Amino acid sequence: MSNPLQNPVSLVDPHGRLIKYLRVSVTDRCDLRCNYCIPKGFKDFQEPDDWLNFDEIARIVAAFARLGATQVRLTGGEPLVRKQFPQLAKKLTAIPELTDLSLSTNATRLEKQAQELKLAGIERINVSLDTLNPEKFKEITQGKLQKVLDGLQAAKESGIHPIKINMVIMKGVNDDEVEDMVQYCINNDFTLRFIETMPMGDTGREASNQYLSLQTVKERLTEKFNLIPTQMRGAGPARYYNIANTKVNIGFITPISQHFCETCNRVRLTVDGTLYLCLGQEHSYPLRELLRAGLSDEELEQHIIKAIALKPENHEFSEDPSKLVRFMSQTGG
Ligand SMILES: C[S@@+](CC[C@H](N)C(=O)[O-])C[C@H]1O[C@@H](n2cnc3c(N)ncnc32)[C@H](O)[C@@H]1O
Ligand code: SF4
Repeated sequence: MSNPLQNPVSLVDPHGRLIKYLRVSVTDRCDLRCNYCIPKGFKDFQEPDDWLNFDEIARIVAAFARLGATQVRLTGGEPLVRKQFPQLAKKLTAIPELTDLSLSTNATRLEKQAQELKLAGIERINVSLDTLNPEKFKEITQGKLQKVLDGLQAAKESGIHPIKINMVIMKGVNDDEVEDMVQYCINNDFTLRFIETMPMGDTGREASNQYLSLQTVKERLTEKFNLIPTQMRGAGPARYYNIANTKVNIGFITPISQHFCETCNRVRLTVDGTLYLCLGQEHSYPLRELLRAGLSDEELEQHIIKAIALKPENHEFSEDPSKLVRFMSQTGG
């Protein structure tokens, strides 16, 4: 196992994993209220004074890039509710070591912003979409489905590719729609990823009562579609299958039924400048105050190396589901 302190140009955690991927939550706020994510009526969001500004985010991302990270995903909360968001994308596109800048969004604001985002350097996006039924969409998210569908069409027209749909599977809520969603993705040339509910915060734990193993979903889909194992760029934790005779791939993200911690290559930066080393654990390292105290670039790199040394081996969603107080939008899913 290499020692990160002896090899400052790459970030290797204590479990031998190379950290190449930073997910940056640019806000913990959102214009939707997905019932497995933000609690209804929740108001305790981070205060603007505590938000990293775009220069601070770019400085941290650049330090990661010098240390060998090549991939960045911008997420939230809903990243597109943060004012002037494309300007941040532009700043990050200018960091030479980064080869991949992507975005996770709920697409409600994509109709207006897709073109500008593409010009700012966002090549590919992931979009949350759990149902194609407007009433059910309203029930799950409190929002309007049509806005999301319009946003997706705008993204397609702007040339953003691939567009990946993230569908959280909830038993008795939307598991009857998996075949329809596959067909929607075939019709639109979107990639589809199914996600298992994760017990993050009270909302995530409640949703976990509707947990359905994706092994079941896969078995059901093989009755209708011929699924051929395949690889995808930036695949991360998803296991992909091509649907025979189509260009469409579907992925299964199974943090619960088949966890993928041994290949984890990522850490997460929240809007208040805290680095979380694992989605399903509390290990963290605060960077904001250090940054504001005027530390040098070399010192910042040393702090990042120290933080990576805290990365735990695996999440404990199944062992101790009551443990995690943070809900997903606070860390950036
Ligand atoms: C927190 S959202 C942030 C980005 C953007 N607002 C969106 O919805 O894509 C990122 C992803 O986390 C997923 N997510 C949120 N809470 C979850 C939970 N308890 N279990 C599984 N996935 C969850 C969402 O479905 C979404 O795909
Ligand atoms: S999953 Fe995304 S869109 Fe839904 S409430 Fe959470 S942050 Fe908002």
